[in-house]
Amino acid sequence: MARISYDERTAAAFKAVREVPRDGLSEWREAVRRHLHPSQGMTLVDIGAGTGAFAAAFSDWFDLSVLAVEPSAAMQDQIPRTPAIQVLEGNASVLPLPDESADAAWLSLVIHHIPDLGVAAHEIRRVLRPGAPVLIRGGMSGTNYDGIENVRWFPETARTIDTFPSVEDTCKAFAAAGFHQEALEQVRETYLTSLADFLGQVDRHRRADTTIRNLTEDEFLRGKERLRRAVRHAENTANPETRSNWLDLLVLR
Ligand SMILES: C[S@@+](CC[C@H](N)C(=O)[O-])C[C@H]1O[C@@H](n2cnc3c(N)ncnc32)[C@H](O)[C@@H]1O
Repeated sequence: MARISYDERTAAAFKAVREVPRDGLSEWREAVRRHLHPSQGMTLVDIGAGTGAFAAAFSDWFDLSVLAVEPSAAMQDQIPRTPAIQVLEGNASVLPLPDESADAAWLSLVIHHIPDLGVAAHEIRRVLRPGAPVLIRGGMSGTNYDGIENVRWFPETARTIDTFPSVEDTCKAFAAAGFHQEALEQVRETYLTSLADFLGQVDRHRRADTTIRNLTEDEFLRGKERLRRAVRHAENTANPETRSNWLDLLVLR
């Protein structure tokens, strides 16, 4: 059971405001390339693929075949249909794939939705070929949240990240399925849009973002006020800063 319902409104909001535009993903592209060692014809399973932003990026960047596994029909509907992307109904604990059929697994912003990480780790082990990597992207409990954009403006979102699996919990669950930690780093994404754009979209973010959705009304309004002040300051000083967000990348093999 996901922490929020990925219904049609949420899926539309996610597509509109939460996908990181491709221009802002260059550091992710390089980080994934370093750990994945992509080669043409490789098959990657994107677990909890959502609206398919990474499925599309990986097939464009690296010429991979992507199996986009996604439990929500509304999110599946948003995934671009291309010859390189196959959309499959399923979840991390029940992957609709044969044994040893994929060369890598990608889980972005998804492990906190998985009810039993141990079950999922065994299922991922089953479908991956020996030696294939698992790349996990997201804010993990207990890491440094300073670069997370939501935490900057809405500090109480940290309360929800604290309930997500930690690196230690995740490594333990995957170790029981035969994986070991290969790397842990923080990777930046950037946004060409301004803080004023973020302020304008933040109500839709709230619908599609687990950490903002869990704020009380007061916490949300205080965060919006912080953002409003920062927008005014940027306008007054004519000094807009580049928006960025740092998330953890945990690689297991
Ligand atoms: C925050 S979205 C991330 C979407 C996409 N990975 C991305 O980074 O843009 C989380 C996604 O995980 C899916 N999800 C929820 N529970 C899941 C599970 N147990 N296994 C796989 N995916 C799940 C949701 O339906 C949703 O599409």
